[in-house]
Amino acid sequence: MATRWGICGAGRISHDFTVALKTLPTEDHQVVAVAARKLESAQEFARKHSISQAYGSYEELARDPNIDVVYIGVIHPFHLSTCLLFTNAKKNVLCEKPLAMNSREVQEILASAKKNDVFLMEAVWTRFFPASVEIRRLLAQGEVGDLKMVRAEFGVPLMHVPRATQKELGGGAILDIGIYCLQFICMVYDGEKPECIQATGICLDTGVDETVVVTLKFSKNRMAVFSCSSVVQLPNDAIIVGTKGTIKVPAHMWCPTSLEVHGKGTQYPVPEPYLPLNFLNSTGMRYEAEEVRQCLLKGLKESAVMPHADSRLLAELEDEIRKQVGVVYSQDRQ
Ligand SMILES: NC(=O)c1ccc[n+]([C@@H]2O[C@H](COP(=O)([O-])OP(=O)(O)OC[C@H]3O[C@@H](n4cnc5c(N)ncnc54)[C@H](OP(=O)(O)O)[C@@H]3O)[C@@H](O)[C@H]2O)c1
Repeated sequence: MATRWGICGAGRISHDFTVALKTLPTEDHQVVAVAARKLESAQEFARKHSISQAYGSYEELARDPNIDVVYIGVIHPFHLSTCLLFTNAKKNVLCEKPLAMNSREVQEILASAKKNDVFLMEAVWTRFFPASVEIRRLLAQGEVGDLKMVRAEFGVPLMHVPRATQKELGGGAILDIGIYCLQFICMVYDGEKPECIQATGICLDTGVDETVVVTLKFSKNRMAVFSCSSVVQLPNDAIIVGTKGTIKVPAHMWCPTSLEVHGKGTQYPVPEPYLPLNFLNSTGMRYEAEEVRQCLLKGLKESAVMPHADSRLLAELEDEIRKQVGVVYSQDRQ
């Protein structure tokens, strides 16, 4: 039986996610409904993607009995309310990153998923790319020896995007793009909490971070460093260095289509989209969608590749980095 998806929010990433789903077999994945704040937006989205049901409110989607899992593609200040809406309606959820604005909100979401006995995953799509699967395989077999250093970068000019610059829309480089570097580091160090974090950053007049550099020290004298910027283009690659060699993730490290292991390159192309995409390599969201299907088929409530503990850890680290850089959201005061 196909996994029946409902899409919450008819914006840019929801468009790309729906295109990505359609690169998978229809016997496995179907988009059966879309909901937006305005019915016309949902109807337009439904027309574009041939979806049979359009709703003018998220609540109607939550009441739809024909949905197996909801993809939440709204901006992050609304992840808490939408996650709670769907988990309380006993719907499984795949929610865009960051799972929420801070640790407190993440805890609330995860507690609600647990209480309602539903599957929930933060949509850290990078982890499910074949290149990321290969990185984990190489690390598990000790291909680079003892880990010593991880470096990652994500910088793209986003000053023209209101949701990247405005505080009330959840603006800020750490939550939007730094999270990809952070999740990469946490993946390589297998979910370990760093012993020490030092962050320095620059903020916009709106009070959100635009460029941040972070160093992290892990146990056994292992280090990581990452930079993120919503003002300038950075090299956008990542590297894992161990005592016996290196694994390089050439640009773009958040949606990797190639790897270099000890200097030898391998390509992992993503499928072509049937409609133009808003973001790079978005058909690669198919891999996280398939992970959700596999988890649901097995009756799991979380993914072993992007477990709740990792969402908790990411949120804690993001809180600490924002504290050091001086970014406070209204949600932090509640
Ligand atoms: N995985 C990735 O590669 C990736 C890439 C980009 C973004 N994202 C994540 O996806 C989320 C959405 O990003 P996006 O670029 O798709 O955003 P977007 O197109 O600007 O907005 C997405 C949706 O959020 C709702 N929304 C927007 N502004 C709102 C407001 N002021 N008040 C209430 N709701 C509002 C709208 O839902 P309605 O349609 O219901 O009106 C809108 O369609 C973010 O959390 C972001 O971090 C992930």
